[in-house]
Amino acid sequence: MSQVNVVVGAQWGDEGKGKWVDVLAEKTDVVVRYQGGNNAGHTIWIGGVKYVLHQIPSGVFQKNLISAMAAGVVIHPVGLVNEITKMTTASTDARVIPVKITPENLWISARAHVITPWHIHLDGARESKSSTPIGTTKRGIGPTYSEKASRTGLRMGHYVNDKARTAWIEDMAASDPAFKKHYESEKATWDEFHLSAQKIAPFVCDAETKLRKALHAGKRLLLEGAQGTLLDLDHGTYPFVTSSSTAAAGACSSIGLSPKAITNVYGIAKAYVTRVGSGPFPTELHDDVGADIAKKGNEFGATTGRPRRCGWFDAVAFRYSAAVNGFDGVIINKMDILTGLRELKICVKYKHPELGEIEDFPWDANVLAKCEPVYVTLPGWSEDIPKSGSIDQIPENAKNYILALERHTNTRIMWVGTGPGREEMLTR
Ligand code: GDP
Ligand code: IMO
Ligand code: MG
Repeated sequence: MSQVNVVVGAQWGDEGKGKWVDVLAEKTDVVVRYQGGNNAGHTIWIGGVKYVLHQIPSGVFQKNLISAMAAGVVIHPVGLVNEITKMTTASTDARVIPVKITPENLWISARAHVITPWHIHLDGARESKSSTPIGTTKRGIGPTYSEKASRTGLRMGHYVNDKARTAWIEDMAASDPAFKKHYESEKATWDEFHLSAQKIAPFVCDAETKLRKALHAGKRLLLEGAQGTLLDLDHGTYPFVTSSSTAAAGACSSIGLSPKAITNVYGIAKAYVTRVGSGPFPTELHDDVGADIAKKGNEFGATTGRPRRCGWFDAVAFRYSAAVNGFDGVIINKMDILTGLRELKICVKYKHPELGEIEDFPWDANVLAKCEPVYVTLPGWSEDIPKSGSIDQIPENAKNYILALERHTNTRIMWVGTGPGREEMLTR
C-alpha cells in the first residue's frame, strides 16, 4: 500500500539522518531528497565501511530502490557526477558495495536549481566580507536559493540543454559585469561545469510527475530531509540558518505533493545537541564534558570537517521542533556516546535576563543568544548499552534518561541509536 514517510532532523543537523534513512529505506520503494544541496553530509556505515553522501539520497544501498532529487533541492552538478562515479566504480576494498546508478533508478528533477561556480564564489565572498558570518559550508547554497527566489536562476532542465545553458550565461554576463569577469577568469572551473551537463543529462526528468505516479501506483516513498528544523529558513534561528525549508512541510512543496499524502513524520535528534557554524546555542558546553562528548562522538562535520559545537539535550528546542513538524515517532540517536558520564542534564526551560523564564523557543536569535538553560540533572550510567534489542533492556539510568526525554518533550521515542552501523539500534 502506498505510503509517504518523512525523516526530519529535529536539531541543527547531523542528527544521523543518513543512517536512519538507510535503515528505513529497507521497507521503501523510493527515497527522495527534498531540499538542500551538497552542504549536507549523510553518513552510513555498512559492514565496517563508511560512506558519506552529499547529494545522492541515503537509500541508495538498498536493493531495487529508486532515488530521487526533487524540485526543492539545489544541485552541484560536478559534485553529483563525482558522487555517481565513485559509487559505481569498483573499489580495491572488497567490502565496498558498488551501486549501479542508472537513469532508471536515479531521477533528478528538471525543476531543481543549479549551484554554479558563480554562486559558490558569492557564498565565500559574502562570508569573508560579513562582520557576522553565518559559518556556511561555502557550497553556494544561499546564493543559489536567492537566485531562484529572484527568478533568475538556472534549472537542471535548462542546464542540460546546451542552448538554454549558454543563453542563461549570456544573460547573466550582460546584466552583471562581476559575473562576466568571473566567467572569463575562472575558465577551468566553468569548463568542468559545462562538461558535467552531458553526463548528468540522462538522469534529468520530470521527477515530480514520476513521483506522484509512483505513489498512485502504490509505491512507498521515504522523504529525506537535510540539515535540521532549527536551520529552517523560516522557522530556524534566522539568520543563522540554511536557505531552504528543512521542516517536514518543505517535503510537500518540493515534490508538489498534497500535505494530506503524508503518512508519518519521523523526527531524529541526538541524545545531546551539536551545531556547526555560528548562531545561538543555549546548552552549548565549553568545558571538559563538552570536549569529551565531541571526542567520543567524533563530532566533526561530514562535509567541511569543522568541529561541531556540543551541548546538553535541549527540550525547549525539541518541543518547538516537534510542534513545527508534528512527529509521529521520535528517534534518539548516539545514545552510546553518553555512556560513562557521571551525570546528565536536560534543558527544560530558559531564563532570560529581561524576559524571565521562557518555555517557548523564541523567534529572535538575539533573544535566544541571551537565554540561559534551566536544567534537570540525572545520574549517568557506566555499563555499556546493548547494541541491539529493546529499550527496556538497557541500564536503569539510561532508561530513566530516555523516559525523562519523553516526559520533557511530550513525545514517544520509538528507536534509539547505539552505534553508527545499520543494526545498531534499540526498539520500543
Ligand atoms: P546526518 O547529516 O544527519 O546524516 O548525520 P551525519 O552523518 O552528518 O553525522 C552523524 C554521525 O554519527 C555520523 O558519523 C554517523 O556515522 C554517526 N552515527 C549515527 N548514528 C549513530 C549512533 O547511534 N551512535 C554513534 N556512536 N554514531 C552514530
Ligand atoms: P546535514 O544534512 C549541519 C549549517 C552550516 C551553517 C548554516 C548555513 O548533514 O545535517 P549553508 O552552507 O547551508 O548556507 O550553511 O547551516 N549547515 C549544516 N549543519 N549539518 C548540515 O547538513 C548542514 N548544512 C548546513 O554549518 O551554520
Ligand atoms: Mg551531516
